[in-house]
Amino acid sequence: MIVLGIETSCDECSAAVVKDGREILSNVIATQIELHKPYQGVVPELASRLHTEWISQVVKAAIMQAGLTNKDLDAVAVTNRPGLLGSLLVGVNFAKGFAASLNIPILGVDHIRAHLYASQIENPLEYPYLGVLVSGGHTVICKVNGYDDVDVLGTTIDDAIGEAFDKVAKFYDLGYPGGVVIDRLSKSGDPMAFLFPGPTLDRGEHPYDMSYSGLKTGVINQLDKFRNNNAPATKENIAASFQRAAVGILMKRVKAALKDTGLKRVSAGGGVAANSLLRSELKELEKGGYTVTFPSLKLCTDNGAMIAGLGYRYLKDGWKDDDKLTAYSRVAA
Ligand code: KG4
Ligand code: ZN
Repeated sequence: MIVLGIETSCDECSAAVVKDGREILSNVIATQIELHKPYQGVVPELASRLHTEWISQVVKAAIMQAGLTNKDLDAVAVTNRPGLLGSLLVGVNFAKGFAASLNIPILGVDHIRAHLYASQIENPLEYPYLGVLVSGGHTVICKVNGYDDVDVLGTTIDDAIGEAFDKVAKFYDLGYPGGVVIDRLSKSGDPMAFLFPGPTLDRGEHPYDMSYSGLKTGVINQLDKFRNNNAPATKENIAASFQRAAVGILMKRVKAALKDTGLKRVSAGGGVAANSLLRSELKELEKGGYTVTFPSLKLCTDNGAMIAGLGYRYLKDGWKDDDKLTAYSRVAA
């Protein structure tokens, strides 16, 4: 079965063609990064306007690159929640029209579930596993029982981890998008130059919840307070020290959740799963007997392939939406 996946929830206009949920025939990602760069953040109105201009070309390119024509498609899957409402609406309405014109089913897909599912396309992992969803909008540690069955164990109580990367980069004018730049700068910085607030674990009611606003405030407003041995405040040192602390906060909870739940498998997804320190720290868990997977870099950040992949599962289980499908900016996790 051939599924076209469409993703327009934020600033990537993406369409992919995936065969039988596993074989990625094409995955076209038209990024708006350059156009949002002057504002150092995504401007919602600009994002939806660009999606409107780009969507039909992106879909056309995905089908062509797959070596197929419209009539080869069996279904259209589209991100319909959560995200920027205007951007989501462009994708959903395009998908509705496209599916109707071909008389094939349409499937609305949850962006967060799709991020969690992305690694399953390339490296299938037996359920249940510990899911670590880390993106610009979400930071969730969960027990993934099935592709559509997730128990949330912990989440950020304020900023998402990717948002913290982006805000720190914006404050120090490091470049855009922040996460990628901080990852790169960190490679030549000293992670111990600043000893930012550590990953203390709250053993209370929500032991896996985490906070990133304290770390962000420390990095932005209190550099001197955390300076270690007069370390110079170079952008590399700030980036590396921030990254160590940000990944540390998450990893502490991941380790605790693995221990407490007894789960032996763990998989990450979302834009921050592309972070090199996080990937190597997760990989380290293999030494303790855990199986660890994460998506290839292209499937970490927003992409249509993960939407088509999860859409295929829905289709196989006989689920489909109809022309009442609409977009939601928020959903319960
Ligand atoms: O999943 P995604 O593409 O969009 C959302 O659903 O939010 O994630 C985007 C986030 C941004 O905050 C970006 O800075 C972060 O992922 N990101 C990274 C890296 N690559 C992207 N953060 C840290 N290290 C990276 N290498
Ligand atoms: Zn995303």
